[in-house]
Amino acid sequence: MNKIVHKDNIQNNVSQKQLVDMFDRSISYLRVSLTDQCNLRCLYCSPKAIKDKLSCGELLSYEELLRVIGLAAELGIRKVRLTGGEPLVRKYIDNFIVGLGKIEGLEDIRLTTNGVFLGKYAEKLYQAGVRKLNISLDTLKPERFKEITGADLFDKVWASIEKVVSMGFHPVKLNMVALKGINDDELVDFARLSLTHNVQVRYIEFMPIGKASLWSRERYLSTEEIQEKISVLGELHPVQSAHMDGPARIFDLIPHSVRTNEKKTGRVGFISPISHQFCERCNRLRLTSEGKLRSCLLSDNETDLKAVLRAGGSDDDIRQVLIQTILDKPKGHTLQEKDKVNCHGEMSRIGG
Ligand code: GTP
Ligand code: 5AD
Ligand code: SF4
Repeated sequence: MNKIVHKDNIQNNVSQKQLVDMFDRSISYLRVSLTDQCNLRCLYCSPKAIKDKLSCGELLSYEELLRVIGLAAELGIRKVRLTGGEPLVRKYIDNFIVGLGKIEGLEDIRLTTNGVFLGKYAEKLYQAGVRKLNISLDTLKPERFKEITGADLFDKVWASIEKVVSMGFHPVKLNMVALKGINDDELVDFARLSLTHNVQVRYIEFMPIGKASLWSRERYLSTEEIQEKISVLGELHPVQSAHMDGPARIFDLIPHSVRTNEKKTGRVGFISPISHQFCERCNRLRLTSEGKLRSCLLSDNETDLKAVLRAGGSDDDIRQVLIQTILDKPKGHTLQEKDKVNCHGEMSRIGG
């Protein structure tokens, strides 16, 4: 193994360490699942029953997380996304984020949430320095929300979304997993939101992950099919994605005819892991709620970082695990080979 994983990246005359994997991809983004617990039971994700949940001691403590993320930032990680399960069910997350904000080299702290507790936490998150939020929302119909998530909480989530937009969080991205026969009659309604609200509506292709019972090829909708459906509303004009943005391809939706309340304030985005595989641009590493490092969402290879931490591992030991995991990162997934599921881990532990 003689590949150099550290390059110097000279930007604005500042030399920064950059982690590079075996396929010359720069790895700068760490997704951290803070808990596998979730207050919803989405059909396509369906975390296991409560009794199967990780106990508090099985999760990495905030001190352990800050140590690992600090070392990762020293090595070249610039962006961290907090996920779950539902990250806002973990106590004192705001204090933890304040701690994250002090880590040198970390430029960007983002959060993916189902929005249920977002209204309650919005001010604390803002004060802690979070500005970028991704919110999972698969329907705009309260009854259907209950069917998909098992909870009658659409109004609460919607109120949270309006609140964070008005507080100035930006971007606020709404993640909609497109599911044939379940919410595909709402694709246009979601697109219309980008004309009336300052949000980025993101359509996500459904992937076979974990043991979620809902997956079948018949449920899958490709980005092309989605774009075709929303074209009744307007034309899609591609937008250059911003520094450190994820895999979504972003567009302005220019309506064929403008209604008085439509101002084209938001955007639409498409995350197309199946129809437009983005693995060759992949910049990410994941830390699961069990404290395992995972180099690819769709591959079950993991390294037990928690074991190293709890065996009294030194900073060098931890750095070595981070680097080795990056060196072992696969070239990409194989989902195009129809229905080949190579991810058996639960989304709620991996964090999406
Ligand atoms: P930002 O651009 O920072 O908003 O990041 P993001 O789009 O990665 O964040 P988010 O947590 O909203 O991801 C949305 C969904 O896209 C995930 O839950 C997955 O379904 C999918 N996704 C994100 N990253 C990957 C990835 O690396 N590989 C694959 N196959 N799917 C991904
Ligand atoms: N395919 C695609 N996206 C998924 N998510 C959860 N399960 C899947 C899947 N099988 C997305 C949710 C949420 C994010 C955390 O993960 O929409 O936005
Ligand atoms: Fe990266 Fe794996 Fe996702 Fe491909 S499938 S983009 S390699 S995490």
